[in-house]
Amino acid sequence: MVDIEKNDFSAPPLHRYTATYLGDEDAMTFVVGENCIKCKHTDCVEVCPVDCFYEGPNFLVIHPDECIDCALCEPECPVDAIFAEDELPDDQQQFLELNADLAEKWPNITEMKSPLEDAKEWDGVPNKMEHLVKEWPGES
Ligand code: SF4
Ligand code: F3S
Repeated sequence: MVDIEKNDFSAPPLHRYTATYLGDEDAMTFVVGENCIKCKHTDCVEVCPVDCFYEGPNFLVIHPDECIDCALCEPECPVDAIFAEDELPDDQQQFLELNADLAEKWPNITEMKSPLEDAKEWDGVPNKMEHLVKEWPGES
């Protein structure tokens, strides 16, 4: 069990102590799937109690070690792009690892912003994976 002393300001925020640290090896994460690409509505970030969304140029991801499996974000997405880990469609299994990898690289996002231009037109378009942009401008 993690021991956080009162007034120990050197300790990371409490939400960094995830279920994994606390010994719950069955803890699951939620995963942002393909339909977020080129939409990025960001309604999801407003409800996350542990601020575990990370933002790329045209996609958001969830940090699996920070997600507390509360399910609040899933119904907020207007394009149904968020799944519980064990309900991720077979053809989107790669998004589990993709969320984990990109969450380590992209900046945290905690406030809603305008969706991407043409977000409505991109809802449900197949094979959006090929449009995923992993680098912010200026990154190599
Ligand atoms: Fe955040 Fe809860 Fe969604 Fe996980 S399931 S990303 S903790 S709102
Ligand atoms: Fe993406 Fe849906 Fe959130 S489109 S940014 S997962 S609200």
